[in-house]
Amino acid sequence: MIPALDIDPFCKAFFDDPYPAHAAMRDAGPVVYLTQYDVHAVARYNDVRAMLLDWGSYTSARGVGISDFAKEKPWRLPSLLLETDPPLHDRTRKLMDKVLSPAAVRGLREAFADAAELLIDDLLARGTFDAVRDLAEAYPLTVFPDAVGMPAENRRFLLPYGNMVFNSFGPRNSFFEAAVADAEPVLAWVQAQSKRDALSTTGFGAAIHAAVDDGDIAEAEAEVLVRSLLTAGVDTTVNGLCAAVYCLARFPAAFEQLRADPSLARAAFEEAIRLESPVQTFFRTTTRDVTIGGEMVPEGTKILMFLGAANRDPRRWDQADTFDMTRRNAGHVGFGAGIHACVGAVLARMEGELVLAALARKVSRLEITGEPKRRYNNTLRGMASLPMRMVAG
Ligand code: HEM
Repeated sequence: MIPALDIDPFCKAFFDDPYPAHAAMRDAGPVVYLTQYDVHAVARYNDVRAMLLDWGSYTSARGVGISDFAKEKPWRLPSLLLETDPPLHDRTRKLMDKVLSPAAVRGLREAFADAAELLIDDLLARGTFDAVRDLAEAYPLTVFPDAVGMPAENRRFLLPYGNMVFNSFGPRNSFFEAAVADAEPVLAWVQAQSKRDALSTTGFGAAIHAAVDDGDIAEAEAEVLVRSLLTAGVDTTVNGLCAAVYCLARFPAAFEQLRADPSLARAAFEEAIRLESPVQTFFRTTTRDVTIGGEMVPEGTKILMFLGAANRDPRRWDQADTFDMTRRNAGHVGFGAGIHACVGAVLARMEGELVLAALARKVSRLEITGEPKRRYNNTLRGMASLPMRMVAG
């Protein structure tokens, strides 16, 4: 029998401390039933990973949120990447893999490195600052829209937009309602930014629209693909950077280790993604009757995958709750896995590496100076505020 649990994974108490509930779900069995939402869930590493890899049995096309597109009209035009299966997914993904290829990202490295140096110098000059607003948000909001080819105005709209979309994968609760309260101008802005004329002639946006000229995609599809970048490219990275800085500030020995060898910056960012999992959850829907751990789950069932719980599963990780940048963390599911694995991971990893390397080279001390405040979101794990002091050295 599938264990039934009355855990609410979309409430404030859960977001404040999800770890006991993660453990309860993992320990209850390979698959559990969450009574409050009438959905199933997997929280063990092996089951989450297996589900991510099996797109044939677990579709994304019925939505990767709680809403089943086969029964409810999606609140926005579905993503041509995240919310599709092959063959459509293959077509759009091939293009995005090219646009965000390692070579394309390498071409941005110098500009991104300069921006990271400038940012850390500026923060050192200020001494005290808010690591969410002034570091974790400030950096991606500068470099990412530049890379897409967006104009300078209103870039901060990307934050409420991301907040809205990532909340929408959960239930229509107070977090979702608050996020969409002033949606109109933000939605209109995002739509306008996705058009060819709004974008510079270089950058990721132009590269996507160039595929229209080649006959690979239609104009309207190009706009939806640019929207994917604007949705997934900022909030995720903000929370990733925030997670990394928060880890380094809480574990001074780890920061010393990084200072001694700044080439560990990339590994430090990766470990922060494993430990904090900025993207905590996504849903899939079964396309047929499936068996998970010997239990039958019928066709058409929504299953919530706890990426964050998988990334701390003691069945998979030694000292799962410890930040250890020297561990072998390959295989964590913080960027997903399989055909939908994060298409922007190369870019996000470069941003993380460059910011942490600049910190390691320039900063001798990193201190939390006030009460950190959590940001509540149905999908993302992050903070609203992290008061901090940095000392040069
Ligand atoms: C630390 C930062 C990031 C994290 C933790 C993250 C996490 C994820 C995860 C877990 C998925 C898998 C979704 C699924 O299986 O349903 C995903 C997919 C995706 N990510 Fe990221 N992401 C990050 C940064 C980015 C950036 C910078 C971009 C854009 C440049 C981006 C664009 C996308 C897109 C478009 C998809 C959908 C891919 C597909 O369905 O084929 N992400 N991301």
